[in-house]
Order: sequence, then C-alpha cells, then structure tokens
Amino acid sequence: MNAPAERAAALRALLQHHAHQYYVLDAPQIPDAEYDRLFRELQALEEADPTLRTPDSPTQRVGGAVLDGLQPVRHALPMLSIRTETDTTAEGARAFDARVRRELGLAEEAPPVAYNAELKFDGLAINLRYEHGVLVQATTRGDGETGEDVTQNVRTIGQIPLRLRGEAPPLIEIRGEAYMRRDDFERLNERQREKGGKTFVNPRNTAAGAIRQLDPAGMADKKLSFFAYGLGDQRGWAQPATHSGTLDAIAAFGVPVSSDRRVVQGAEGLVAFHQEIAARRDALPFDIDGVVYKVDAIALQQQLGFVTREPRWAVAHKYPAQEQLTRLNDIEVQVGRTGKLTPVAKLEPVFVGGTTVSNATLHNLFELRRKGVRVGDTVIVRRAGDVIPEVVGRIEQPRPSYVPNFRMPRACPVCGSPVQREKGGIDHRCSGGLFCAAQRKQALLHFAGRRAMDIEGLGDKLVEQLVDGGIVRTLPELYKLGVAKLSALERMADKSAANLLAALEQSKQTTLPRFLYALGIRHVGEATAKDLAAHFGSLDRVMDATEAQLLEVRDVGPVVAQSIHTFFAQPHHREVVEQLRAAGIRWDEHDGAAAAAPKPLAGLTVVLTGTLPTLSREAAKELLEAAGAKVAGSVSKKTSYVVAGVEAGSKLDKARELGVPVLDEQGLHDLLATGPGAGGAA
Ligand code: IVH
Repeated sequence: MNAPAERAAALRALLQHHAHQYYVLDAPQIPDAEYDRLFRELQALEEADPTLRTPDSPTQRVGGAVLDGLQPVRHALPMLSIRTETDTTAEGARAFDARVRRELGLAEEAPPVAYNAELKFDGLAINLRYEHGVLVQATTRGDGETGEDVTQNVRTIGQIPLRLRGEAPPLIEIRGEAYMRRDDFERLNERQREKGGKTFVNPRNTAAGAIRQLDPAGMADKKLSFFAYGLGDQRGWAQPATHSGTLDAIAAFGVPVSSDRRVVQGAEGLVAFHQEIAARRDALPFDIDGVVYKVDAIALQQQLGFVTREPRWAVAHKYPAQEQLTRLNDIEVQVGRTGKLTPVAKLEPVFVGGTTVSNATLHNLFELRRKGVRVGDTVIVRRAGDVIPEVVGRIEQPRPSYVPNFRMPRACPVCGSPVQREKGGIDHRCSGGLFCAAQRKQALLHFAGRRAMDIEGLGDKLVEQLVDGGIVRTLPELYKLGVAKLSALERMADKSAANLLAALEQSKQTTLPRFLYALGIRHVGEATAKDLAAHFGSLDRVMDATEAQLLEVRDVGPVVAQSIHTFFAQPHHREVVEQLRAAGIRWDEHDGAAAAAPKPLAGLTVVLTGTLPTLSREAAKELLEAAGAKVAGSVSKKTSYVVAGVEAGSKLDKARELGVPVLDEQGLHDLLATGPGAGGAA
C-alpha cells in the first residue's frame, strides 16, 4: 500500500471509532473540531484520488446511528442536515448569498434576497409529531431517514407542550433542538461535584445522553430546554408563505422559538447578524456553534431544492469551536478568596471559543483524579460563555510511566499554613485566613469588583503590589491610601494615583446589598445579599441576626445561615465593618437596592410565569427589580403586568380573567427600555 492509501485507511478507522463514541455512546473522546479536522483530511485524500473512496468511508454517510434498545422510527419526511460554511469570516456569508443568487438566476441589479437569520443551537435534533394538537411521538434524527423513539424522555421536558395552543391542524411535525442551558448545566455539575460524583463534559452531550437513555428516570435531575426551528410533515395546515412566518406560527402554538432571529436583506444583512451574534455569543444563556441563514420565502426554497441531503436554501455559518485539544504543561495550585485550593492547568496556549487560553481550572483534587489527567497529557479544554475555561478530559494515549500523579500540597503554597479538608468534604483549604496573602488579594479584588464596591482601576496588578508591599493588609486600609503611597508604586503615575483615589472616594456611596456582597462572606452571593438587605433593612440587623432569624430569609438554608452568623460572630470582622463605616462608606438603609439608579418602573407590580425563551426567571426578576418594579408571586387586580413564557399556567388564565396586560419576553424588554404606557402589551 502507498502512503495516502494507508493514511486514508487509518483515518477511516479513527473516524469510525470516534463516530461510534459520539453518535451511539454519547461519549466523545475528542472535540468536534478535532473530528472535523480528521474528516476533512480524509475528504481531501479522497478528492485527490477517488479510488481511495470506499463505500464504508465516514465521508459517504451523513448522521448518526440507531441505538439498540430505542425503537427505530422511519421519518415521514427525512431530517436533513445543513451545509456548513467553514469560512468563519464575513466572506462565508457573502459566498452563500452569491450562490443563492446564482442558482435563482438573479441579475446583479435584482433586489436583495430576504433571509431569516437564526441561531445554530448546539443540542440534539428532535422531531415532535402532533396529531390534532396532541404530542404523539418524539424522535431523534438518527441517520436522517430513521430515528429513535424518545417520546417518554421528551415528555419530561417542561418547555415542550403536550398539547398545542390554539387551532391545531390534524397533523403537524415541529422540528427543533433539545438543549441544556449553561446555568442548568453548571448547576448539575455543581451538584455532582458536591456529591463527589461524575461531572458531565458539556451541555450538548449531557442533553443528548439524557434524551437517548432508556430509563426516563435519568431525566429527573437534568433540566432540558427546547427551541423549534422548522417543520416536518404536515396535513391540513395553511403554512405561512415564509420561514419567519412559520416560526411565528409555531411560537403561537406554544412551542418555544428563539427571539434571536431576524429577517435580513442580502449578504450585508447576513454579515451584520453574524457579527452581532458573535459579540453576544458569550452572554447567551446557552451554547451555539454558529448561526443559520435560510432563504425566507418558501416558494424560493422550493425553487432552490436540495443537493443530496442538504437544502440549497440554508447554510450554517460557524463560530470558533468551544472545545480544543492542547498539551497540559503543568498543574499549579491557586488559593482563592475563601482559602479554597484549586488545581489549575497550565496549558500550551490554544484558541478556544474565540480567545487564547493558557490556564484552565481542574476544580478540585477528586475531579482531577477522576479525569485522570497528568502533566504531558493531551487534554480537552472547554471555554463557553463567561464560565472560566476548564479541562474536561484527556485523550486516551500511552504516556511514560514516570509521570507522577498530582498531589495536593500539605502547606499553602502562598503562606505555608496547613492545608485542611473538612471531613467528608471535597475541597482543600488553606487555614491561614486573612494572614494568607493570596486570600487577602482575592478578598480585595472581590471587594473592589464591579458588582461589589465597584472601585475602578483596582485590578490584579495593583492589588498584587499593595499586598506584597505590605501597604494594604485589611479592607479598610484601602481607604487610607494617599497619593504619596500610591505614586511610590511601580508603574503608578500621579494621574492614575489620583484616578484611583477618586474611584475609592466614589465607591463610598453604595448600597447595602453591594456592601454585604463585597464583604465576601462564604455562600453570600449577589442574590443572597439582596435578599438579606430586603429582609432586614439595615446592616446592624443583619449582623445581629440569630441563625433562626437568618433562616427566615428567602432562599437562605442552614449552611448559608451558619456561614453568615459565624462571620459576624468574629470580632475582627465586626471591626472591619466598623472601620469601613468610619472611612465614610454609606448607603440608604431603607432603600437597599440600587439607590442611585433611575427607576422607570417604580410602583409597578409584575408577575412572572412560565419559561421565557432566553431570560431565566432570576434574570428577569433582577432586571425588573433594578428598574424599580416589584415582582410578585400571584396575580391580582393590583398586578400591573404578567410576563408569560412557555407553559404558563393558571397565572396566565387569571391575568386574562382580570384583564391584566400580558407581555412576552420581547414585551418585557420593551417595557424595560421605554417604561410603562409605551404600549407593548400583547
Ligand atoms: S435547520 C433543512 N436550523 O443543525 C434544515 N438546524 O445540520 C434542517 N440545528 O441536525 C435543519 N440549529 O439539529 C436548523 N436554527 C437551526 C438549527 C439547526 C441547530 C442543527 C440541527 C441539525 C443540524 C443541521
């Protein structure tokens, strides 16, 4: 055999192995980007020499395989895939538009083609079959011709209506993506970590694995979501003449449709959408791997037709992959604000999810051990959204036997204090408290953070110098800094010293929730800080609360109550608080939340119900409260608005009964943007 033939055979075997891991076992061992690279290498070899193209080559097959155990179901209409535009720059969008225009035979001066631009969700494609409005079957895509019956598992997804709203046709199949939100994924892994259990690699595989498992009980701890993006078979329905209109109609049936979609004109409209979504990708609550452009007019779609399994009227325009392979060069231990020791992977720099990553978390010793990573390994790095990059696994490969297993140090690498682990606990901690420079630095950074005291200019480098130089040992000492001390620091010009002092001065006017959060009490995040402020109304009352009183606060459980109580029971913490107050830190005791911000919705009471397409309930609540609205739990005559998402139940009925205006997510955004009275009620 010659070299290309050998390489092609090796690639076929490798790709077959990984395709099986991916499609059948839902347990990929390499990132998608790596699979794609191998796939393209084989494609190139086969193109150069077509005799290398064997019938069993992975390039000759689209899609997955049917898992033993789930019932195969032949699709009434095949589930197609979309061609992928590999050029991730704006040119990719222009090339698609040029192709569409050519195939439609449009003259250069003909007006731009209208496209519906939408997100490419990263989950599992599902076909939902509704007969007379009732969900009768849910299937996976499988190989496109035959999928698997996953009705039982899909029924547990709260966002998917078991019955369509309104006038449903005799038959309609709605197609879309089942996926897991990033916050739901993080929460799941957080729970697994607390239990010392196995963590999941990424939201996509977790969602796919959950839906394709044989026992529906395994769905219970996995909250999945769904977005519709198209149709399958249908009978007796007057489908709108455009794809965008079809999506509107699907949304009216009560099936979630992402609001991040837009009808745009021509190539430049596509480019603008691609760029806009790229900028917002990290802020979305779920993973996307690109955007999808579809010719909006159904008549034009029919005119364009298909090439093999792919429509000519649609294309997926990708973004940089969120998982990549790289070498693990070293493992260091970092000490956090609460003394927690985190093993951090020092990586060969790699471009992931749009940025270059050279550090990634390994979370804790147990997780590191379970993943089995050692220095020198090729590891999979994931960076998605604003979650810190993490090492999610390693590539199975031989390694020299002398590479030692990682051990947690017995003494804090920063201050030398003994390292402890709570009995039965997962985390190792430095016992040095604020004696430990690392904990001091982190405490200062947290205190100065944007969502805490918001001290602009007090970043990593400066805190490092302040702590290492012994200039600032406690939080209150920050407010004793003067120009002289600051200007003596390396790289600190008089002007930046003056700016920092101004920022410190400005930070003194704050809010009670921000101040409580800034103190860095274990388990007290922003939400808890707000709840505490709202419940007690004053700092003194929080400080003097008993554990029993703390337990009365919404969402505060025994662990949090104890943590708050222990914090304020320590005299030196009380002293820090007193010194900060003496330094001039102040807030309006009766108006803890966002005292200085304008409150366009003050006086309004809003009730949230159902699941909104993109905002979590917490996020919607925060936005409303920040704008001054009160968020209530039940609908009454005093309710100003009800914001309703999918699966909104009795609250929505009550709102209709009482004539309370009902908003969808877009309506909520409009309300926040323009205030009440500007219309927007649906
Ligand atoms: S349309 C005829 N739209 O990407 C076109 N697909 O290869 C059929 N996907 O398996 C698909 N987001 O699971 C379409 N907005 C979107 C999508 C989307 C994600 C997935 C889908 C499909 C694959 C296409």
